[in-house]
Order: sequence, then structure tokens, then C-alpha cells
Amino acid sequence: MSQIGRAERIRLALVMVGLPARGKTHMARRVARYLRWLGLETRVFNVGNYRREHLGSHQAHHFFDPTNAEGLAGRRRVAELALDDMIGWFAQGGEIGIYDATNTTRERRGRLRDRLAAHGLEVVFIESVCEDEAVIEGNIRQTKLRMPDYAGVAPDEAVRDFRARIAHYERVYEPIEEREGSFVRVIDVGRKVVAHRTQGYLASRLVYFLMNLHVAPRSIWLTRHGESAFNVDNRVGGDPPLSPRGERFARALGEHVEELGVDRASVRVWTSTLRRTRMTAAPLGLPTEEWRALDEIDAGECDGMTYEEIQERLPGEHAARRARKLTYRYPRGESYEDVIRRLEPVIIELERERRPVLVIAHQAVLRALYAYLMDRSLEEVPYLPVPLHTVIRLTPITYACEEERTRLIESG
Ligand code: SIN
Repeated sequence: MSQIGRAERIRLALVMVGLPARGKTHMARRVARYLRWLGLETRVFNVGNYRREHLGSHQAHHFFDPTNAEGLAGRRRVAELALDDMIGWFAQGGEIGIYDATNTTRERRGRLRDRLAAHGLEVVFIESVCEDEAVIEGNIRQTKLRMPDYAGVAPDEAVRDFRARIAHYERVYEPIEEREGSFVRVIDVGRKVVAHRTQGYLASRLVYFLMNLHVAPRSIWLTRHGESAFNVDNRVGGDPPLSPRGERFARALGEHVEELGVDRASVRVWTSTLRRTRMTAAPLGLPTEEWRALDEIDAGECDGMTYEEIQERLPGEHAARRARKLTYRYPRGESYEDVIRRLEPVIIELERERRPVLVIAHQAVLRALYAYLMDRSLEEVPYLPVPLHTVIRLTPITYACEEERTRLIESG
């Protein structure tokens, strides 16, 4: 699937630029997750991983000294290997390749651009600039010290070595200039974003996405509404109220939020416009925001039917849905793909928001949001388990999300 309307195939190389510990890998992975979720074949090629694989991970800072001829030759070799792999991957149908390396010199970036252009690939550089010492220190401690490079090394010694590594790169670093072509410069993790010659729909979406990224720690909670009268009968869609058990869940959710250890007043609560999510949010006693984009998949002509009735009355529809649930669209209704498409503003708002967010929504919608947050493939979306009466807490940590599920009441 692709959400990006396009006449011809997209082939775009995003080339990261910046000193170590400027959040390039974090940014590369987040961009990749977003683009994959939009249905684009996207992959990150991280040169550090190639270096670890081919030259070993325990390289002291001298290895990165630009006057160390041996180190330089080794680094060039692994950088070329990663680039060869990326070009090969494009030839196999890849759409967006992200080349994640420091690429600190103009000469290096020029060579990269020329080689990629020779394969008909458009290049956009993404430069991450950060002078905020606290962010750099946090980045070193949270991500770099966990790398295999520093396995078994005392933390303070590892920080010293990594800072010396950064100093080597600083000696040769040339910030990107306008004459080098298209680029996006992200300053202090989104405080300021400069876009130069980024044309087209996809590039502008990318810039907008980068503007909204941040690294502030906070949790996102996902939960379905409490059991509804339709859930009891196994009916799809509609706008039914909660069942008595669903109301019990709503009360339990209110108590659960009290116990979360976060400032209640800081929690943003999002519901759909449907009654069952609004009733679930009511006992929280917090302001809520209703999103039409969070409404359940529209079952069209099947709305209000049980699955057995659909099978009996519309056997063709039932079979088509079973065969390919991701792309199947209910007659006069929606497909999972349609749901994913309409959720994009919710994703951007989730990225932008620094406060904790509790999303009270529906099964199909939460499957799609969960897939984004946990970087699961679109193919998996229609089958991801999102049971009733269970709160899923997702907390971003380094490059992924930590997940915790709490079942508040039995579902019967
Ligand atoms: C590394 O080897 O860790 C990074 C290589 C680079 O991009 O300079």
C-alpha cells in the first residue's frame, strides 16, 4: 500500500549528516518508521553497524582520528559497503533508503551524492545540529554507552572516550551549505528546522514530521472503550452505549489513572466521537478531546450486523475480508488502509505532544496506532491483539518503545 499519491515510483536517498551524539540514528529510525507506516518501502543503512560487523566494535577513539590513515581507510571501506548495499537494495525495489552516518565533510557528501545520482537517485541531506550540552550528554549516556563499543567499559571512561571521538569529528566537520543541494537542517531536536530546496509532497511531509519530533520522555496509553451493547452480541459498528461490564471498566480506568504516578492534570485524554469511548472517559473527570479520526472502521453496509449475519447474507464480502483484511473495504465503508490514512494527523499530534496521552478508541484504530508506535508491519495491523479492558502503556526508550499491558477487569 502507499498513502503517497504518486504517478511514478519514488526513489529517494535520505543522507544523515552531523557529529556523533546528535540524535541522527534516533531521527533516522523515527523517519523510517513513519515512512513505512505510510506504506513506503524504507530501510536504514547504519554505517556504525557495518563498522562493528567488519572491523570489530571495540575501537578506541584513536581509530576515528582523521590523521590515522589505517582508521580512515577502514572507515571508508565500511562506508562504501553500506552504500553498495543501499544501492543494491534500491535496485531490488527499495523506495526510501536512509544512509545513517556522520558524513561530516563536503567532499564525502559530494562523492555520496554523485554515486547516488549515477543510479538515478534523488538525495536529500538531513543534518542534525545540536549545541545543547545537556542533550549531547544525555544522548551519550542513554544510547552510546549501551553500544557494543563500550561493553565492559566503566561509564566515565566510556564517556571520556566518546567525547574524544566527537572531538576528532569536530576537527573536520563542515556544516552543509546551500550549494550542496536539497537539505533539511534540524537544530536542537526540532527547536528550529531549516528546509532548503525540498520540493514535492513527500519531502514537505518529511519536513513537517521532523519539525514535530522530540525526545522528551512521556508515556502513551492506548485502550479500547469498555464493553458495549454491540460487543455483547458480537455486532460490528453502530453507536451503542456501554454494557454494565463496560461501565465497570470505565470506573476501573478512572482509578487506574489515579495510580499511574503521573500528574493527572497533565494527561491529555483523546476519544473518538462515538458514545462508547466518551462514556469510558467520563469517570476520569478530565477534559477530553474528541477526534473523528479515532472513530472505528466504518463497516458500511455491514454496520450493525453480527459476523455470522455477514457470512450468511454477504458470503462474498465475508470471504474477501478473510482473504485480505488489510485492503478489504466494506461496501460503502472503509478498509484498514483507509483507517491508517485518516490517522496521520493523530500520529503527528502524538509525536508533537510532550505530555502523557491516553487514547480511548476502537480495535481497528488502536491496531493501526500500535503498529506505528511499535514499528510493526502494515500486513500485521489487522491481526494485532488489542483486547477489551486492557490498558497498553507505551514508553519510548532509546530507539524503541517499552510496552506494559494491564488488564483492569475480566472480559467475561
Ligand atoms: C561509526 O563507525 O560508528 C560511524 C561511522 C561514521 O559515520 O563516521
